[in-house]
This record gives sequence, C-alpha cells and structure tokens, in this order.
Amino acid sequence: MAEFVGAIDQGTTSTRFMLFNHSGEEVAKAQLEHEQILPQAGWVEHDPIEVWERTRTVIEQALQRAGLTGRDVAALGITNQRETTVVWDPRTGRPFGNAIVWQDTRTDRIASALEREGKGEVIRRKAGLPPATYFSGGKIQWILDNVDGAREAAESGEAVFGTMDTWVLWNLSGGTNGGVHATDVTNASRTMLMNLETLDWDDELLGFFGIPRRMLPQIRPSGYHYADTVAGGPMGAEVPIAGMLGDQQGATVGQVCFSPGEGKNTYGTGNFFLLNTGTEAVPSESGLLTTMGYQFAGGEAIYCLEGAIAVTGSAVQWLRDQLGLIRSAEESETLAKQVDDTGNMYFVPAFSGLFAPYWRSDARGVMVGLSRFHTKEHVARAVLESICYQTKDVAEAMAKDSGVELEFLKVDGGAVVNDTLMQMQADILGTPVARPQVAETTALGSAYAAGLATGFWNNLDELRENWQEDKRWQPQWSADQREAGYAGWKKAVERTFDWVD
Ligand code: G3P
Repeated sequence: MAEFVGAIDQGTTSTRFMLFNHSGEEVAKAQLEHEQILPQAGWVEHDPIEVWERTRTVIEQALQRAGLTGRDVAALGITNQRETTVVWDPRTGRPFGNAIVWQDTRTDRIASALEREGKGEVIRRKAGLPPATYFSGGKIQWILDNVDGAREAAESGEAVFGTMDTWVLWNLSGGTNGGVHATDVTNASRTMLMNLETLDWDDELLGFFGIPRRMLPQIRPSGYHYADTVAGGPMGAEVPIAGMLGDQQGATVGQVCFSPGEGKNTYGTGNFFLLNTGTEAVPSESGLLTTMGYQFAGGEAIYCLEGAIAVTGSAVQWLRDQLGLIRSAEESETLAKQVDDTGNMYFVPAFSGLFAPYWRSDARGVMVGLSRFHTKEHVARAVLESICYQTKDVAEAMAKDSGVELEFLKVDGGAVVNDTLMQMQADILGTPVARPQVAETTALGSAYAAGLATGFWNNLDELRENWQEDKRWQPQWSADQREAGYAGWKKAVERTFDWVD
C-alpha cells in the first residue's frame, strides 16, 4: 500500500514537488526556480517548456532524495499560479509563444474597453470578477490577436488554452500521445469565461473575448480522477492525478478552512486572502472577487470571497534587487526592527496598479511623508507595514461583504517566518494572527484533494486533525494608534491614483 501523496506546486517564481504522509507532514521536497522574462515595461512571461522541464526535474529529485519511487505514491495533486496563460499546439506540444503571467499588464486596453462597452457588469455578475488585466480571458484574446496563425489554429483545434495546471496535467498524462486537456473549477473561475452558477464556459463571455470554445479545457471538480501519469514520465509509474486547484484555493484547503466564515491569508509575491462562503456565491460590493473555493470528489461546489493583492513579498524583492538596500529578504526584518515606527512615512507599492479592494490600473507606487530624518530602517519598516495595511484594506472589505468578524487570521506563505511582520500584522489588524506548523499549505491542499478522491483520506475531520498551530501573535497597539496609522495609510493610497491613463 502506497504511503504517500505527492503534490506539484507550479508557482510564479518556482516549481516544487512534495510528498506528504497520512498526518499531512512533508517527507520530501525539491524546488527549482524558472526565468522571469520581462520583455518590456508591464510584460511578464514564463517559458512553458522550461517550466515543464523544471517540473520533471523536481519530481525526480524529490523521489530520489527520499529513496522512493512512483509506486510509493498513492495519488498526485497539482496546484499552480493562477491565471497565467499558455496556448499550445496539441499535435506538437509547441507553445504559441511564452506564457503570459498573471502580473502582466499588456491587456490593459482590452480590460478598459470591456468596462467602457458596459460588459464589465455582465462579467461581474456571471464570473464574479471585475474586468482586469489579471485574469486569463484578455490574455487569450491577446495571443489570438497578436501571434501569427494562433486564431486560425484555435478555430481548427490546432491551438488549445490552459492555465499552468492544465499544461502540467497534459504533459504528465502523455502530452502529444493522448495528454488529457482539463482544468478544475477553481482555475476556470479565474478566466472571466466561466459562469459561477453553471460551472461551465459561458457563450456570452466567450463572445466578449472572441474565444472559440473548442480551444478550452474540460472543467472538472478539484477532486477528480483526471488521468494517470505515464510510466515513461518523471513519476516512473502510473499514478492517479486526482486533485487540481489554484494555489490560493490549495492553501485554503491546506489550512482546513472548510466551514463558511473560515479564511486564510497567504504571503507570497502578492497576498491572497480567501474566505469560505459555503455553497453560496456572495457578490462583492467592496472590491473583492467572488471565486470558487474547491469542489471535492462527489461534493458540492464551495465558493469564496477573495482579496487579491498584487505586490507584497515582491516589494521586499524590489528593495533587494532594484534598490540594493538589503542583501536578503531576511534583512528587511533586521532593519525594520531597529526603529519603533516609520516616522509617519508610508510606502504604497502600486507597481502594477492596485488590485483589491481598489482595482485601479491608473495607480503607481508612492513613498509619502519623507523628511531628512528618514533612514533605510524606516523605509524597510514602511515596506513591511505596506504588506499589513494592504491586508487590513482587504480584511475591512471582507467584514463588510460577509458580515463575518474573524476571531483570528490563519496565515501561511514564505513571509510568515518573519515574526516582526506577523506582530505588525496583528497590531494593524487588531486581530490575532496564527501560523500553522506545516507552512506548505498550498501543496498540502492539492494533496488533500487528491487523497480524498482516492480514499487515502476518508473525510474532512481527518484533515482538520492534521492542522496544528505553531505560534499566535496578539495585537499590542491601542485602538487610537491603530486608527491613526490606518488613516495615514488611506491618505497615502489616494496619492497613488490617476498617475497613468
Ligand atoms: O493569482 C496569482 C496567484 O495564484 C500567484 O500565487 O504564490 O505563485 O505568487 P504565487
């Protein structure tokens, strides 16, 4: 009897493969970064062939390190950076250009035209999303309009679309030799093309973008027997691929947010705060997204409200790589700890406009309140505070839309090792913050979906028992301090508006 479940996490900066045991503990891991291709301002691309090769390698490395083979793996889950768009020829496996990444803003004209033409309201109502460069629909349209031969090929079945889950699944299940072309409800819900009620592609929405239905993958539940890996592939055996979900939904499952009102906040390149709203798709009036949470094998579709923030961890990378103020991400904590506050200075990292709850593509970053007194320690602190204030904005919107007051905030992602940041988050939110023992919640969530579909785990209670708290931070600021700090932040955010057309 195979004792482990595997999970591929195809993320924005790297691809990981992990193996988990029945208690949800990580027993093996390998990780490789891939190139961030930045051909011009606002464009962000990945090479799909490189990503697939890295995926193969991390699977082989992790199995080898653990002294295991594919036969020790009961099932496989796939989780992924969402929205990132690949179009390829299923006869040759060759992509029509690089993948267009979720952060890419080249489709800003497509997004603003949708709003101008009154189609925005329809997209909000049917797909739960505001028209924005972030989602896949405009990216597919861009490829069909700009890559030679792509539109004709899409119409004749010689070009197909996928987000990274679909691309990895197709390759793992045989590629040009009968690879399966499918996606799950959570990934499909990030395209502006899926109707949240029918859980199917919507002809009116497809018409807005001029996308032929036949190029789209089949939409399946997140827990579903999609295919088996081919024995000649990196698993070296036929293993059921039985779970797929977008990475933020993966983390929601990994954090066992299975009841309405339970939520989590992930600190990655961006921050993504998801709140389970049960079987009801709650429309947002406060700038949040209505999105799919998960649909386990044989289960109902569960919806979430989501606050997506584009730039959080990547602002720390900017301090390191662009400004050279720090040598490592950890140094941001060392610097920030040396001052008690920012000296009333704020940094708003609206590098690609602002996502939730503002959705302003005309915004650009600002640093305000500067005087000669300020040092790089203040700047580092303001960058960390911007992560927490953006989360506060989203938490306020969540409370308004859902009426749920969080008892505590479950956190995960790379930056939650930063204790100073977590204390700041509790202070700024006025809500306790709790970190689980297993920080790899994203991969764990897709392993859970696959394990539930194949009987490796039997029910949600078994999974709930696996969640253990590692540390909790209590708010220490007074209410006055919190209010004054937040008022300054709101003022700073306004200064970012109307910067570009
Ligand atoms: O929506 C984008 C999100 O899925 C990206 O997550 O962790 O790869 O930056 P991450």
